[in-house]
Amino acid sequence: MFSGVQPTGVLHLGSYVGALRQWVARQDERDNVFCVVDLHALTIPEAVDPQQLKERVRSTAAQFLAAGVDPEKSVIFVQSHVREHSELAWLLSCATPLGWLYRMTQFKSKSEGRESVGTGLLVYPVLQAADILLYDTDLVPVGEDQVQHIELTRDVAVRFNNLFGDTFVLPKAEVPEVGARLMGLDDPTVKMSKSIAVERPGHAIQLLDDPDTVRKVVMAAVTDSGRELRFEHASPGVRNLMTIAHVASGRPIAAIEAELEGGGYGTLKKLTVEAVNEMLAPLQRRYREYMDDRAGLDAVLARGAERAREIAGPTLRRAQAAMGVG
Ligand code: AMP
Ligand code: TRP
Repeated sequence: MFSGVQPTGVLHLGSYVGALRQWVARQDERDNVFCVVDLHALTIPEAVDPQQLKERVRSTAAQFLAAGVDPEKSVIFVQSHVREHSELAWLLSCATPLGWLYRMTQFKSKSEGRESVGTGLLVYPVLQAADILLYDTDLVPVGEDQVQHIELTRDVAVRFNNLFGDTFVLPKAEVPEVGARLMGLDDPTVKMSKSIAVERPGHAIQLLDDPDTVRKVVMAAVTDSGRELRFEHASPGVRNLMTIAHVASGRPIAAIEAELEGGGYGTLKKLTVEAVNEMLAPLQRRYREYMDDRAGLDAVLARGAERAREIAGPTLRRAQAAMGVG
């Protein structure tokens, strides 16, 4: 199992539910590799602040650990520490038709309206394919927005295997049953996203939000003017809150529906606030412990990079040999 998250600052509840929570839930089942993808954070160079990026990489890694990723069970490392990622990305880019990359919806939305678009933004999914293929990955747990990139990875692997002989394992995306797409609290018609969260404080719950902020954001969340509290029939805003309450408390949706019977949206919001704050308190405590122990965190990441290289090195050499280089 392989997955990655960009070091763009504090993670929000969407990334937690779509990615981190799944990683932790599955980490006993197989060999896992989890990566802070800092090279992917360079694709809009105007927005890169080098000093801040380094700090965000550490903070993101600390959030992985705080969420329960266990370095004894899983390899956790920083993408730029393992140069095999960049090297394989070049080999793969030579086997990737340009048209496949222009079709990616994330490229379309991120390049839209920009005066200058870096090549990195276009080849971003090829680097992502390298991340995944280096570890002979079967499963890639991600939120729904990444499924297209995982399918592209599979297509690139198939094409490479056809051109140069059997080299790569074909991976599959794994999307959570509930919460693959948490929506904005201030606008349940759009996905909860980092870029909107920066501009609109009521949009997302961040993993490091204090209890009072969580309460304000949830209490102000958009619902509707009715009273429908059955998940199936509820409006998008209400469904989103029920999903959050379910994920944060670990209780089935049916149990939440039962508890809300006779109540209104105010009751749902209170229950959601409590569940989220209860979930975040221990996570935030662990986060501070990891951030305070700089040497300890660096050691975990150094060991992770070493173990990652042990797996990635042979795969890169296999791909080089298939292409006649190296
Ligand atoms: P990012 O933080 O954008 O690097 O995304 C990290 C992971 O979180 C990816 O697997 C995304 O698919 C997932 N993710 C991001 N936003 C959401 C969301 N609103 N709902 C569910 N999953 C999400
Ligand atoms: N592109 C992913 C995102 O924006 C992050 C990512 C990079 C990733 N490499 C990966 C996710 C490999 C899964 C597997 O969320």
